[in-house]
Formats: sequence, structure tokens, C-alpha cells
Amino acid sequence: MRVLIIVATLLATTFASELISSDEVEDLFRRYARNDLSPTENDKLQDIIELLYRPEHLTTESLENAPESRASLDCLICRSAFAVVFEDVKNGKTDEEISDVVVNLCSSLNIETYHVCAGIVPLNIPIITHIIRTTPEATPRTFCGLVLQKVGDPNFCAVDDPRFEWQVELPEKTELDNIPAADIEPYRVAIIADAHIDPLYEAFGVANCDEPVCCRKGQTAAKHFEYRTNIDESVIKETIVNDNGKVMLDLSMAPMIRELKKSTQTRYLTNRNDAPAGYWGDYRKCDTPIWAVDNVIDEITESHKNIDVVYYIGDTIDHGVWETTYDLIKDMNRRLLQKIRTSFGEDVLVLPVIGNHESQPTNQFAPASVKGDLINTTWLYDELAEKWGSYLNEDAKVTLRERGEFSMLIRPGLRVITLNNNVAYKSNWWLVYDPLDAKTHLDWLISELHKAELAGEKVHILAHIPPGVHDLTKTWTREYNRIVNRFSSTIAAEFNGHTHSDEFKIFYSPDDTPINVAWGSGSVTSYTNYNLNYKIIDFNGATYAPESIINYVYNLTEANLTPHRPPHWFQLYDMKNTFGLTDLSAKSMDNLVHKMVTTNKELLDMYSAFFSKVSDTRWPYCNDWCKIDNLCKTVVTVLWERQKCDELRNIFFSSK
Ligand SMILES: *[C@@H]1O[C@H](CO)[C@@H](O)[C@H](O)[C@H]1NC(C)=O
Ligand SMILES: *[C@@H]1O[C@H](CO)[C@@H](O)[C@H](O)[C@H]1NC(C)=O
Repeated sequence: MRVLIIVATLLATTFASELISSDEVEDLFRRYARNDLSPTENDKLQDIIELLYRPEHLTTESLENAPESRASLDCLICRSAFAVVFEDVKNGKTDEEISDVVVNLCSSLNIETYHVCAGIVPLNIPIITHIIRTTPEATPRTFCGLVLQKVGDPNFCAVDDPRFEWQVELPEKTELDNIPAADIEPYRVAIIADAHIDPLYEAFGVANCDEPVCCRKGQTAAKHFEYRTNIDESVIKETIVNDNGKVMLDLSMAPMIRELKKSTQTRYLTNRNDAPAGYWGDYRKCDTPIWAVDNVIDEITESHKNIDVVYYIGDTIDHGVWETTYDLIKDMNRRLLQKIRTSFGEDVLVLPVIGNHESQPTNQFAPASVKGDLINTTWLYDELAEKWGSYLNEDAKVTLRERGEFSMLIRPGLRVITLNNNVAYKSNWWLVYDPLDAKTHLDWLISELHKAELAGEKVHILAHIPPGVHDLTKTWTREYNRIVNRFSSTIAAEFNGHTHSDEFKIFYSPDDTPINVAWGSGSVTSYTNYNLNYKIIDFNGATYAPESIINYVYNLTEANLTPHRPPHWFQLYDMKNTFGLTDLSAKSMDNLVHKMVTTNKELLDMYSAFFSKVSDTRWPYCNDWCKIDNLCKTVVTVLWERQKCDELRNIFFSSK
């Protein structure tokens, strides 16, 4: 193997390189879409496809952890595929015709299996082509820069579109003296997030399939072996030339890569875990069976008394993103709400948040002005306004129908604002259509917070996606941070879901004072490699700051040993007592984070164990780097602003 690479590399260096810029690559794909390639150009395109071919299917992890060269290739694949769509739209092709071409590209570049490509592409094409037709500023670069946004690198596959830079206006702070007397009744909340109910879940079924989510009826097991070609990263690196940010492909490498693929093709045993799907869920790529979701809700209502309100942080729908339907979404939303309502009873208020999986197709949230079949989001907002209607007042229903969010006074002195921040998710194509739509949501948030401030109310903000690390656009996270800073004395707590891990985030003022905390919820799904959990939170009845946060879990390995018995739930931690804190203020949490990297590293071990909810398939594999990565997420609330993370890492490793 090594010898082969060396020989091949020697061979390659003796030939002149044949560079082709990413613009030229895009152009070739465009002309391929027009059927306009000469035989030589067609050979060229084949060479390009040889270089771009993905060794494995695309997943969130494979994107995030890709080496630089692979990531550059992905950026190029993405832009080329979009160039094809742009060209097809220009030439008046129908959505069906365009879908066919893209499905072919998707499977021939090994982005996903043919089956998955053939599902997910036609769901998204009507939206993408609508945006291309109606948005003069849209380019392949904008679409790809967003969806491939990388945690650590602002320049990677950059969007380069000035429309994405905007600022919210913040009202002056007014000093108030006659704050109305607050309620001093205790306030207890149950937090449930990310149910990801899979109605197709099959206990003892196939958990090792070759699709983004397994354990579903009708799936087949992935093969026990696969043919992999063993091409060294250094060779892939040579196919890419990065000239001051201008990426070029070296086509002279194509014959060699082709040769290497043939000669190094090896049959590998995949070493998969073939055990059948667990009854109560599965650590592998599987969502939640309905009976496990029911069990979570029953457990909460049977074990905890005096719950005033349920915060449901969103993502009811499974990860079968290539085969979601309107009916599935409506049905699961109905199913979950009905269960919550019957178990908690009519007296418990439920405040739900919309998650990125609730839309059709997944992740797509159009501005209210967008009408039309297969592209609008109003169907979802209307649907939820009706389903959740009995919990909401008229004003809340109006904004829910308009934008998928609402603000409600829950009791004297406490307002809950659910914020639909899925609009600013990197995978929402509608950002390309109107980057300012995300701003209208924040403008509304500001006006609600300002009213609350003037009325002397405290506010809880519930939003599905946590700001900072991965998923929201840079501008959104930066502006959201400014809002939290401006209204930090009004915002008593924030709650997020989405990550499935259990974490918290500290917000800082420009002078580095910790000012606010956003609490993660964990998840009801085990997807992937997590235990299931829910939380019970007690708030101070005057300040509405959390006083006690308790997380409950069960051990999925253990539960699956006795399918006929309900899982054994236990208290995993009590945030304040387990970590020895005097309170749960931002200052205390900041203190805790610093202790974790200095005097009390055992607290970091604990935080990392809790991060996966002591999952048997995650916790034991979390080394120091993983622990620091987890901890870093507590101090990054603006995308790419990672100084605090770097500081923590340096302190930790310098005192080892
Ligand atoms: C939104 O899309 C759905 C599904 O295609 C359709 O039934 C509904 O009529 C559309 N609504 C509007 C306002 O276009
Ligand atoms: C979960 O249960 C399994 C089976 O009883 C056990 O081997 C494992 O150690 C438990 N995990 C934890 C974190 O306690």
C-alpha cells in the first residue's frame, strides 16, 4: 500500500499539473446540464467526478470532522450541484426534470444511497427552484456557504453576500422604580425536548441499516463487508490547490486516483453491531418508539407533583428526512399533544416550541409572505395554532400563525416567549431568499422584551436551537447576544433543545461579566448514543430564576435487557447540589466552568458524563479533548467567536 502511494505520488509529480478553478468546475457542470459538453470536456467532467467522489455518505459528523481537503471538495460538490440547478432553472426545466438530474449526481457522488437521494431531493427542489427564480442575489455560493458553515472557520466555503450582514436596533434602557409586586408562588416546570417519535420503529428490527435513521420497519441490514479503497489523505490533498482562498482541482491526479481506487480496493468486514433494535430505543442511529415517548410522559406525571407548566422544546418528528409527509407531521404532532394533555390533565399549561424537524421538508421555514403548494410554512403554523389553541390566548395564536412563535403572560410577573429560530438555521434554504426574515423575528423579540421590561415582568425565552456553536448564522447569533445583553435583567432564563446532549451556555457582556444562562434540555430520543431524559425545574416565584434543575434518565442498555418491564428512571443530578453551587446564576456557572479546568477537574469529568446522560456508547469514549470540546460549548454563544474556548483549553492543558 505505502509503496503504491509513493510510486503513484512520484508518477504524479512527473506530470505537469492540470489546474481547473472551482468556477470552471461549476461551469462544466452547468454546461453538462445544458447537454453542451464536447467529448473532451465530458472526459474532463468524469475526471472531476472521480476526484469529488465521497468515500462515505454525508452525515453531520462526517461534515464537521472532515479534513480540510475533503471539506474543500464537499464545498465544490455543493456549488457544482447548485450550478446545475441554476442552469436548469434558467433553461426552463421542470422541477421533476431537475430532481432527476440532482438525484443522479447525489447518488453517483455517493452523498447518500440512491433511495435516500431519490426521497430528499424532490422534497427540496420546489423550494430551491422557487428561490432561484425569485431571488436575483442567489448564487450557488450563498446556498453552499450556509449549509456547509463550519464551527471553526469563517472563511471556509464562505457565503460572501452582503445581505447577510444586518443589525437590530435596541431601545434605550429606562430606569423604573415602581415595579409591580411579583407573584411569590413557587413555579415548577417539566422540560421535555426532541421526542423524535418514530411511528415506524420496530423493536428487535434492523438497527444497522445504511440510511440516516434505522430501526424502522421494512429496512434491510447494511452489508457485513464493504469494498473500500484505501487512498491516503495526502493524495487527496494533492488534488486540491488552494491559492489564497481560490480553490483549484488538479485534474492530472485523476488517472492516478482512478488507478489507486482499482489497485487498493479491499474487502473490509464492517464490524457492525448486528444486535437487533432495542425495545426501549437504541443507541445507534434510531429514533424513539411511541411507547418510549409515552413512558417518559407517564413517568413525569406519576413521579412529580405540582407541575405548573410543561415547556416542550420541539422536534417531534423523526430523522427519516427523506420520507417525511404532511400527514406524518400532523399525525405525530397530534399524537404527542394528546398524550401530554391526557397525562398532565387540563390544568397544566403546555407551552410548545417549533423544532427544525416539524416542517415539510425538514428544516425549511419560509417567510409568511410565501404562498404556494409544497413551499409555504403557513400550513404548519396554522395547524399548530389549531392544535395548541386551547393553551394559547388570541394574540399568541396570531403570531403563531404568522411566524411560528408567541409571547404570553403566564402569571403576574412572568412572560414566556417562544422564539422560532429555525428560520436562522444554516439548513434553511429560505435564508437565501430573504436573509432579513430572521431579523423580523428578533425585532419582534425586542419589542416583546421591551414591553416586559416596562411592565416589570420577568421573561423565559424558549427557542429550539441553541446559539453559538454550530447551526445558526453568525449575524443571528451576534445580534441575539446583543439582545440578551440589553435585556439581561428582564430575561430570567433561556431554554434550548436540538443537540440531544445535556449542556448549558453562558452569555457574557462586552466587559466579560457573565450575565445570563441558556439551559439545554437534553432529549427524549437516544439519537444518537444518548440516554433519554427529562428535567424538572423549580423557579423562584419572585425572580423566576431557576433554583433547582434536576435531570432524570434511565440506562438504555439496562432497560433493553428487560423489554417487558418499564425502564428504571433515576435522578442523574441536581445541578446546584451535585456541582456544589450556591445558586444557578450566570456568575456561579462561570465560576464552575473555571473550576473545571483548574482546581476541580473532577467536575469536568462529571459534566462530560452528564453531557451524554451517562450513555454507555458515549461516556466511556470521551477523552480530555472531547471533554474540553463539550466545555467549550458553554462559553461560545456567537458563531466563530471562540476566544473563551481557546482560553479554557489552554488553561486545562497547561496545568496537566
Ligand atoms: C401550503 O402548502 C400546502 C401543502 O402543499 C397546501 O396544502 C396549502 O394550500 C398551501 N397554502 C398556501 C397558503 O399556499
Ligand atoms: C447500564 O447498564 C448496563 C447493563 O446493566 C451496565 O453494564 C452499564 O454499566 C450501565 N451503565 C451505567 C452508566 O451505569
